[in-house]
Amino acid sequence: MKVMVGVSGGIAAYKAAEVVRALQKHALEVRVTMTDSARQFIQPLTFAALTGHKVITSLWPAPDGESGDSDASIEHIAEAQWADALVVAPATANTLAKFAHGLADDFLTTMYLATTAPVLVAPAMNVNMWEHPATQANLETLRQRGVRVIEPGAGYLACGMVGAGRLADPEYIASAVLNALGRSHDLAGEVVLITAGGTREALDPVRFLGNRSSGKMGYALAEAAQSRGARVILISAPSALYPPAHVELVKVTTADEMRAAVLSRMPEATVIVKSAAVADYRPSIVADQKLKRTGPMTIEFLPTEDILAEVVRQRRPGQLIVGFAAETQNPLENGRAKLLKKGVDAIVVNDVSRVGIGFDSDQNGATFLTATTAIDLPEMSKRKMADRVLDEVVGLRRPQSLLVELSVAELSGEALPSKSQTASSDQGSEFVVKAAASSRRQIIIE
Ligand SMILES: Cc1cc2nc3c(=O)[nH]c(=O)nc-3n(C[C@H](O)[C@H](O)[C@H](O)COP(=O)(O)O)c2cc1C
Repeated sequence: MKVMVGVSGGIAAYKAAEVVRALQKHALEVRVTMTDSARQFIQPLTFAALTGHKVITSLWPAPDGESGDSDASIEHIAEAQWADALVVAPATANTLAKFAHGLADDFLTTMYLATTAPVLVAPAMNVNMWEHPATQANLETLRQRGVRVIEPGAGYLACGMVGAGRLADPEYIASAVLNALGRSHDLAGEVVLITAGGTREALDPVRFLGNRSSGKMGYALAEAAQSRGARVILISAPSALYPPAHVELVKVTTADEMRAAVLSRMPEATVIVKSAAVADYRPSIVADQKLKRTGPMTIEFLPTEDILAEVVRQRRPGQLIVGFAAETQNPLENGRAKLLKKGVDAIVVNDVSRVGIGFDSDQNGATFLTATTAIDLPEMSKRKMADRVLDEVVGLRRPQSLLVELSVAELSGEALPSKSQTASSDQGSEFVVKAAASSRRQIIIE
């Protein structure tokens, strides 16, 4: 999705660079327009370098012979149609007044009138300017016309006064834009570690044993998680894909390298999604030289380490683990068996024997399995599937009240509690026992 950032001439104009970065982190394409006054505070070059696009600073083309950074012609109309949202940060009292009264004497104000996309303004100014009835009346007019006002924060202002008028936090502005675009920001604060691609085990210097995984599902998950506000660590086995911008990419080749990378980065993660296709076996000997054709050949294979099992063993309380299973027969039975055996929170089961979905395809169809539920995710694009999987992850992250029936011994050997106390499951996750009905050994946990 595409966002135009309007920068007007306030002291907080330099913070617009951080706003641009925050928007880009959520996989939004950003362009910038600046008012004349904004150029007194920060150079267009900063935004051109950040966005990779020219910065529009005027309604008018640069005069002949001048190497201006602007090139305007009738771009206010084209850009108004291009943008899925317009956000002005910082928005000066002057620009707010012009918006409210329909003045259109520069690119930003003209584009504001020409666009039908959602408009957001993040005002920043001296506290007296902010509280002035004229400014407040203009804001009220804009609100009534559907403009979203991202309220400034209070605190010490550049003018030396204390009060309301500080530009809102760039991340907060980005999340308001995402909301306006209808994009959810429900993974903010999470660190999601995703594995992707298919590992390769060398047979000799030129050959390897690989698999048909393209990495498309894992890369789609990385993009989706990032755009929903998560910090993403993508540990990728070989893949022909470009990683989404701003994810932390760790490249690996073999199952062993994948294992080392996952175990070293997993302490940072709050959610671990293992969508890579990791080799189960590797050749016991890797030839130093290219193997020659000498008749029939037998190669011995040794099992690789079970990374998922190690991840489960090393998980810390609160870490959520989601595995992927590619099955060619009895997908649900095999998937549930894997879930129970490995002790993960959920498994996404793909029936890769179905035509047109799974390996190397842009489509996927799967079932999201937990210990108690099976959610059908019918055939859809892998990008959509990524969002559906993350919807379920978000559901699992939410604190839940459950009524469960356990033996007293299962609660760390404690006597059945009569009031709130903390207990822990055998997987290390903690929960609070809120109440107990002692006669029926039922408890409510959160
Ligand atoms: C040093 C300095 C700092 C300023 N800071 C702000 C500010 O933070 N907020 C604001 O609304 N106006 C501020 N102004 C006033 C605007 O720059 C002025 O109203 C200008 O006309 C805004 O033009 P624009 O809305 O087209 O960018 C400042 C002016 C100066 C000289």
